Amino acid sequence: MKVGLIGLGNLGTAVGNLIAQNGHEVLGWEYQQAVVDEINQTHRNGRFLADVPLHLQLRATNELTAVFQHSEVVFIAIPSAFIESTLLPIREAISPDIVLVNMAKGIDQKTGLTSFQTLTANFPNQPRVMLSGPSIANEFARGMPTVVVLAGDGRHHLLKVAKLLDNDHFRTRFSHDAVGVELGGILKNIYAIGLGLFDGKQIPSINFRAVYLTIAMEEIARMGVAMGAEIETFLYLSGMGDLLATSLSEHSHNRHMGVLLAQGLSREEIQAKMGVLPEGYNTLKVMLYVAEKLHISIPLAKGLWDVVQGRYEAERFIFSFIKDFVE
Ligand SMILES: NC(=O)c1ccc[n+]([C@@H]2O[C@H](COP(=O)([O-])OP(=O)(O)OC[C@H]3O[C@@H](n4cnc5c(N)ncnc54)[C@H](O)[C@@H]3O)[C@@H](O)[C@H]2O)c1
Repeated sequence: MKVGLIGLGNLGTAVGNLIAQNGHEVLGWEYQQAVVDEINQTHRNGRFLADVPLHLQLRATNELTAVFQHSEVVFIAIPSAFIESTLLPIREAISPDIVLVNMAKGIDQKTGLTSFQTLTANFPNQPRVMLSGPSIANEFARGMPTVVVLAGDGRHHLLKVAKLLDNDHFRTRFSHDAVGVELGGILKNIYAIGLGLFDGKQIPSINFRAVYLTIAMEEIARMGVAMGAEIETFLYLSGMGDLLATSLSEHSHNRHMGVLLAQGLSREEIQAKMGVLPEGYNTLKVMLYVAEKLHISIPLAKGLWDVVQGRYEAERFIFSFIKDFVE
């Protein structure tokens, strides 16, 4: 099958390579010309996925419309903040048969819409699939076993997408709860920042981490259910699975933000160092507002916001969270 990708960053390159290895022809759009050239000329992506040789069937372009002319299924792998600005200008050029697969995990700060909701609002007639779950690109790009969840419109679309991805080390499962699958992936980023505080302070307590992650899961589920998800979804791969993977992975940008906060850097200094703040930061900001509107109590997230804002010291947060933030 002919497959397209929007974004050949860390996730996009890993997914494109996986699909090419599975025997499909992949054309990916990339924002950075140097990455396009490197992939086409050397079959490498040193900027986003160093040391992984790329399949010859994965090609890159800087022409967005070329991707949609080429493909039956297009995977979206750019951060949520760029989805509208990238896809809206070419909306008319997208055939209604093309299945859009969203892999971004974020929430738009201006509209308050999740990535999948943004796609739904802008492409209401397009078949849409959500892909989420514990899927650290640096791992599955190197053949580590990975299982993700697909959710969305029509089982035949899910089967079509699954066929592109499934192989011996990468597997898909289906869910009918697209809202819950997406929210698990979005909300866990908030709490991965918090887990990074423990690592940044080099506090070797598993007890602390276990309490923290359990309470985080409880808050995620409470928020998610209030926003229309089914509670069972959070007990599976795109909920608990993704929370554990992102919080514990050294590759997680969100966890890394927590590490830097614990080392005493301010939000502004972290932004300067990382280039752009990870998606969990915006999500946290938006979720506090949503929680207030829905009358949902999320004390752990509120405490994290105080740490991010520099009003609460990381060590104090860690040592008092069972008293101050666990209800
Ligand atoms: N990396 C992972 O392991 C992983 C796993 C699951 C989900 N995700 C999600 O996938 C999305 C992408 O994450 P990533 O880790 O691949 O990010 P990345 O930082 O590696 O790549 C970012 C991509 O966005 C593009 N980009 C940058 N500025 C842009 C702009 N102004 N307009 C359009 N595109 C622009 C970059 O060129 C690149 O292709 C995120 O929503 C993330 O939460 C990532």
